[in-house]
Amino acid sequence: MTDVAGQGSASDDDRPILTNRQGHPVYDNQNQRTVGARGPATLENYQFLEKISHFDRERIPERVVHARGVTTYGYFESYGKWGDEPISRYTRAKLFREEGKRTDVAVRFSTVIGGRDSSEAARDPRGFAVKFYTEDGNWDLVGNNLGVFFIRDAIKFPDVIHSLKPDPVSHEQKPARIFDFMSQTPESMHMLVNLFGPRGIPADYRHMQGFGVNTYKWVNQEGDTVLVKYHWMPKQGVKSMTEEDAAAVQAGELGHATKDLYEAIRRGDYPEWELLVQVMEDHDHPELDFDPLDDTKTWPEQEFPPRPVGRMVLDRTVSNYFAENEQIAFGTGVLVDGLDFSDDKMLVGRTFSYSDTQRYRVGPNYLQLPVNQPKNATVHTNQRDGQMAYDQDGHGENPEVNYEPSITGGLREGTYPTADEQGPEIRGRLTRKRIPRTNDYLQAGQRFRLMEDWERDDLVKNFIDLISQTDRAVQERMVWHFLLVENELGLRVGEGLGISPKDVAHLEPLASQDLTDEDRKRLENLG
Ligand code: HEM
Repeated sequence: MTDVAGQGSASDDDRPILTNRQGHPVYDNQNQRTVGARGPATLENYQFLEKISHFDRERIPERVVHARGVTTYGYFESYGKWGDEPISRYTRAKLFREEGKRTDVAVRFSTVIGGRDSSEAARDPRGFAVKFYTEDGNWDLVGNNLGVFFIRDAIKFPDVIHSLKPDPVSHEQKPARIFDFMSQTPESMHMLVNLFGPRGIPADYRHMQGFGVNTYKWVNQEGDTVLVKYHWMPKQGVKSMTEEDAAAVQAGELGHATKDLYEAIRRGDYPEWELLVQVMEDHDHPELDFDPLDDTKTWPEQEFPPRPVGRMVLDRTVSNYFAENEQIAFGTGVLVDGLDFSDDKMLVGRTFSYSDTQRYRVGPNYLQLPVNQPKNATVHTNQRDGQMAYDQDGHGENPEVNYEPSITGGLREGTYPTADEQGPEIRGRLTRKRIPRTNDYLQAGQRFRLMEDWERDDLVKNFIDLISQTDRAVQERMVWHFLLVENELGLRVGEGLGISPKDVAHLEPLASQDLTDEDRKRLENLG
């Protein structure tokens, strides 16, 4: 016989019997138990109640951001060295140690703002999250495709996301709300110049870059630290879409990027990315015109050349979308020995947020799920119980000793692999201040000048289309910022909105920003 999908030919006798989760065989899956053929139904209808109440709980909350995504698997292979220099000079992380060493990875690509079934052709940053299942436990590198972010302090994250998400009244995404917020957030300019040009709609996931965005540290055997930024470069090249391309794609298919990735892997055309790392000495670099811990900035490549450290190949799709894509959980706190946090204020806030949301979204035992377990390292903890506890986290020989220290057995502390002190000494008084050297416009202007003509035209057109839907006061502020980013950008967007530099000359510098001497000179010329 042929089954519904037209594939199988198993006879009825070979097929497993349907059961419920108690192992009870199901003899009738078509009819509830009722009194007489026409009802009423009975309350002790266990099989029916189990089936329907499980169905009622099939959905877990979707991610508050990055709800739409796709997960695939593969491996990372280390180059072991940079030219003649071993990578181990900078980090003792084992996954980089030897040339050719392979580490299993799971990678989830995503959009940010839309819900779980939203369009993958939306103008939106893309998430690029990689879980390395190393022998020292998991390392998550949770990045995006644009290299910078809208804000530099985690305390502003709920606000920036609320402005980008649909209106809480009409549930529409509204440019008026987005630019109301951005016009008072000058640090967002660099991100906006990236997001509203063609790079804001990658053609698909295989043809986009990835960046760690935040600044991390590497630590070597001696406890010396350096600051690092991560970059993923696709071997497939980078391809983007204009608004028109994207409209055509999403008219036919909302999930084109997932489909593209799955089809490539199924036909054996495995996508590949090279991982490059920029390195800086671990201090605040007063000689630079930006702070190395500021995630609205990139590090100039001439001074800090990205050095290749390995490659990543994706060669396997998930076998269950829910278990492996909806329940996979990444976080910036998930680091292994030899990799560390920097004092980047976004990074610290993110590190709290990820595991907090996952305990809510998936449950307190989310790390016991197969996709999140450190499958190449062993787990022994004294964490116990909680909803959906699956086992006892490798309790060892003495399961009754679930505390430490104990002289009767149980788990013991490890020994630091090296000195337990590292990095420069930190001093300061408690305060609430923005960082010095905010320099919000310079790199945004440099990015604009690096664009090709068609990319600039696309950016200007998109800004005019969207900002024209905002209040006049917001329009003026945006033009004022754009004139500081780059004259041409301010003039062209202003012209499209009917706003001249004279019209915005009266605007005071916004309370939330510091201007450089260069910015002030530009302002003087506005009037
Ligand atoms: C997902 C918070 C900034 C990249 C998430 C989630 C939260 C969150 C709550 C949902 C996680 C889940 O449900 O499993 C934050 C906060 C930020 C921040 C508080 C700033 C303070 C960033 C930045 C990037 C980024 C700067 C890019 C470098 C991602 C990615 C995901 C994600 C890729 C999806 C992970 C996945 O595929 O499951 N973020 N985020 N986030 N975030 Fe952030």
